[in-house]
Amino acid sequence: MPIANGGEPPLALSARNLSKTFRVGDEDVRAVHDVSLDLVQGETLGLIGESGSGKTTLAKLLLGLVSPDKGATLELDGASLPERVTKRSEAQVKSLQIVFQNPDSALNRAHSVRQLIARSLSKLAALHGEAKERRLHTLTEAVRLPERYLGSRTRQLSGGLKQRVAIARAFAGDPRVVVCDEPTSALDVSVQAAILNLLADLQRERRVSYVFISHDLHVVRYLSDRIAVLYLGRIMEIGRAAAVFEGPQHPYTEALLSSVPSVDGTHAKRIRLSGELPSAANPPSGCVFHTRCSLKIGGICETEAPPCRDAGDGHTIHCHIPVDELRTLQRQVS
Ligand SMILES: Nc1ncnc2c1ncn2[C@@H]1O[C@H](COP(=O)(O)OP(=O)(O)OP(=O)(O)O)[C@@H](O)[C@H]1O
Ligand SMILES: [Mg+2]
Repeated sequence: MPIANGGEPPLALSARNLSKTFRVGDEDVRAVHDVSLDLVQGETLGLIGESGSGKTTLAKLLLGLVSPDKGATLELDGASLPERVTKRSEAQVKSLQIVFQNPDSALNRAHSVRQLIARSLSKLAALHGEAKERRLHTLTEAVRLPERYLGSRTRQLSGGLKQRVAIARAFAGDPRVVVCDEPTSALDVSVQAAILNLLADLQRERRVSYVFISHDLHVVRYLSDRIAVLYLGRIMEIGRAAAVFEGPQHPYTEALLSSVPSVDGTHAKRIRLSGELPSAANPPSGCVFHTRCSLKIGGICETEAPPCRDAGDGHTIHCHIPVDELRTLQRQVS
């Protein structure tokens, strides 16, 4: 993670108290609950958590695609950022972009690749004529999209090529932050690696920050500087990627990481994650993880929201059990 000389790392994006409650029939679905996070310039923040934990909703809140519940604040490069994308300036819109899992949803099938990228260059970079044409070629080269595809319709392209078009469009206005929501999960494994390497190269060249969402924990580990672990819309643990992966502190993170085979094919079976994720329409009281937590202590875990505990070096968890005690308990279980 890049750190400014002698000071605090410069922030690209800062979010405070983001919550989102969807009204479904007569139920309130609490998809995201009181999430605060900072994104340092040029870093990748990985977002992990089971299906339904609120990753996409959090991404959409950052993008201004859904409006947060009352009390949220957002800042982009230190300046206040309106909640809704429709209220944001052109500069703010081009600075904050998203790459989705399924590029089809964002690519108009009636247009050629050239038209799609050219439109983004007009809209996000205010380029026209010769300048736009020159930039179109640099951009297609940057995303390693062979020029022979510029005349194609997207339905003629493979998933990997379509994702390159989507990435070219997101990068048309030189964004400061790109949210990648499972950008490779619909692709063949061989193509996944190429797209991940492309994203990493673009970051190195352009100092863009990523919020990177994936169920593939190896991929998240590979790309991320820091990791945030979501459970029922809350951040349970956040810290440097190496610290979170090699020394998870929260029982949920420990369980989540234990469920995945390690790179060498062995399972780190220490704490099992049992049962289904509870419904976001009816989250458990107290610590929302208590119904599945093998380290639960009676009473307080069921009745009170857990405090934020500092595990050092910017690594924090939300848990009733102090960090030192957790470490001892986890050693006993393993
Ligand atoms: N538009 C919506 N209306 C009602 N409920 C919603 C809406 N979008 C999301 N939810 C609910 O909010 C919760 C979080 O969903 P979200 O899609 O953000 O999870 P996710 O972590 O991205 O899951 P996945 O890994 O499957 O993509 C879920 O309970 C989901 O059903
Ligand atoms: Mg999602």
